[in-house]
Amino acid sequence: MKGIVLAGGLGTRLLPLTKITNKHLLPVYDRPMVYYPIEKLVKAGIKEVMLVTGGNSAGDFLRLLGNGKEFGLRRIHYSYQEGSGGIAAALALAEDFIEDDLMAAILGDNLFEEDLSRYVQKFEEQGKGARILLKEVEHPERFGVATIEDGRVKEIIEKPEHPASHFAVTGCYMYDGRVFDIIQTLKPSGRGELEITDVNNAYIHAGQMSYDILSGWWQDAGSSFEAYARAQNLVRELKLRSKE
Ligand code: G1P
Repeated sequence: MKGIVLAGGLGTRLLPLTKITNKHLLPVYDRPMVYYPIEKLVKAGIKEVMLVTGGNSAGDFLRLLGNGKEFGLRRIHYSYQEGSGGIAAALALAEDFIEDDLMAAILGDNLFEEDLSRYVQKFEEQGKGARILLKEVEHPERFGVATIEDGRVKEIIEKPEHPASHFAVTGCYMYDGRVFDIIQTLKPSGRGELEITDVNNAYIHAGQMSYDILSGWWQDAGSSFEAYARAQNLVRELKLRSKE
């Protein structure tokens, strides 16, 4: 199993903080944002990771992460996304790196309280298709929202005005190699991006999507200043608790 950290985009929702640097390099409490998803992958036993980034500060990732040894990675690979084509377009850049392996892709601004090992293990046992992680949230309209029927995900709608459930689709996605064929078929959405939600719906329609519901907190740190501030507090509380 290989890991992908998606750390591209222009971070416009956090301007002016992102005017001179990449969103994923901003601090979250005592570490740069991108450290958190990398550490989650390593903790789940993934030793080879590709980081996909873009924009002007791409070189800073190399300065920060080097060859990945400090994180316990066997190797870290880098890829560069031009413009802001969306999460699915960024994922497509990892095709040669993945070869025939399974993958866990994680958004560079997503923070998870839980150790993700058991979900990664479940996907390894599943062996094909896709698996997503859901979290019940108060304001699902800010995310991809999943409806569940008879123990299966029936549909995901990206940022619906009137969400049919409280299950947000978090930014950790597990796929088999078919994901690259699916991405080839996608058309840009209203915001001009290739949407990861369209990828997930393709797996759902093929009857190949599984899911887990997270019990620990989940926070996307980069979608608003409020989300960014919440991420800082959650990490701080976690650190303080672990010192008690
Ligand atoms: C993206 C996805 C969305 C998902 C969210 C998680 O949203 O499109 O489905 O729920 O990440 O952080 P974006 O941050 O690109 O608006």
